[in-house]
Amino acid sequence: MTRQKDDSATPRANPAKVRRVLAIALTALVAVAWIVFRWQAVPTEAQFAETVLSPGQAPGGRSGEPILPLYRAEGLDPAKIALGRQLFHDPRLSSDESISCATCHPLDKGGADGLKVSPGVGGTQGSINAPSVLTAAHNFRQFWDGRAATLEEQAGGPITNPVEMASTWDQVLAKLRADSELSQGFAQAYQAGLTPDTIRHALAEFERSLPMPSRFDRWLLGDDGALAANELAGYRLFKKHGCSGCHQGRNVGGNLFQRFGVMAAYFGGKTPSKADLGRFNVTGRDEDRHVFKVPSLRNVARTAPYFHDASAARLEEAVRLMGRHQLGMELPESDIAQIVAFLHTLDSEAAP
Ligand code: HEC
Ligand code: HEC
Repeated sequence: MTRQKDDSATPRANPAKVRRVLAIALTALVAVAWIVFRWQAVPTEAQFAETVLSPGQAPGGRSGEPILPLYRAEGLDPAKIALGRQLFHDPRLSSDESISCATCHPLDKGGADGLKVSPGVGGTQGSINAPSVLTAAHNFRQFWDGRAATLEEQAGGPITNPVEMASTWDQVLAKLRADSELSQGFAQAYQAGLTPDTIRHALAEFERSLPMPSRFDRWLLGDDGALAANELAGYRLFKKHGCSGCHQGRNVGGNLFQRFGVMAAYFGGKTPSKADLGRFNVTGRDEDRHVFKVPSLRNVARTAPYFHDASAARLEEAVRLMGRHQLGMELPESDIAQIVAFLHTLDSEAAP
């Protein structure tokens, strides 16, 4: 037997390998500690309420900004969130069990499917672009035309919508009640057990747990190093040109109704579809024609195509059209690039 053979026959710790494993473990530990530290730095809702004296003032951070930082949601029930998460991914909510909420709102893709319109059960086509669910909890109303006042009210919509999940509450309840584990979970979390109301509530509770802060929130809380120079320049242009007149508040949008085409008609050349009528479909008032909920720009870089009709494939194009139709100006290319750089800083740093 040669010496070499002896060596390989006896398993021995290889110092280089040990060092490598230790280095990886240490890096992982530092990364986890960093994420936890960052997350803790985000104020809770209660801290926010205590410290914020006037709108626009971030606790321990900058004051007078039109955008407010996200806080950690408090008082949510983990058991209900878990049930909601399960339902969100459950195709039994659709009539032929082919699609779940997550089919049109994939959480790992910014909470929207990236398609112009989403195919529903049996390949039916929707008539409007799917928005992100990631920070929908911070919208003042839900849907492009604001027809649902709460997440609970919204959650019932797709289940019975014929071009989405095309189901009925009777069908859904029959299927879910047959699942003893799920029924038990609901019976433990809710006095009423499994009902349309508790299904809607669990879905909404899950959606309230989704919002995650972005690099821009860290900057709002006072971390100067969180933004690069061109991103900060983009934010200044976003304010200077007046984008923040509509896209502002905690959700960088989601708290106002505005006409699409304030300064220059957007629907001028084409015959508007029903979806293009926007809020008019809800109120029937002439002044609400082409009025939409100003969409949130959180995670917007991840949710192309843009606008209710998905008419802009790229973010640069969406910003250019906003300048033209909402502000009455042709934005220089360099301004568009910087605004887009700023918009990327609104991506959540962690996945929900
Ligand atoms: C077939 C695709 C599809 C499915 C399935 C679907 N959605 Fe949607 N969702 C959409 C579309 C399209 C809209 C916009 C409709 C509108 O504004 O008229 C939307 C809007 C929303 C909104 C409003 C967001 C905002 O900014 O206004 C929320 C919240 C939401 N969906 C959650 C859900 C939940 C929860 C489920 C499962 C119960 C679900 N969706 C199932 C396509 C889908
Ligand atoms: C007068 C209000 C107003 C102003 C000012 C405004 N927007 Fe908008 N923005 C809207 C409305 C309303 C929509 C939704 C339009 C639609 O899809 O029907 C929108 C949509 C968008 C979208 C698409 C979001 C999505 O998810 O589809 C982007 C991006 C955007 N705006 C960026 C900007 C930028 C950048 C500026 C400044 C250059 C700006 N907006 C100025 C009201 C405004």
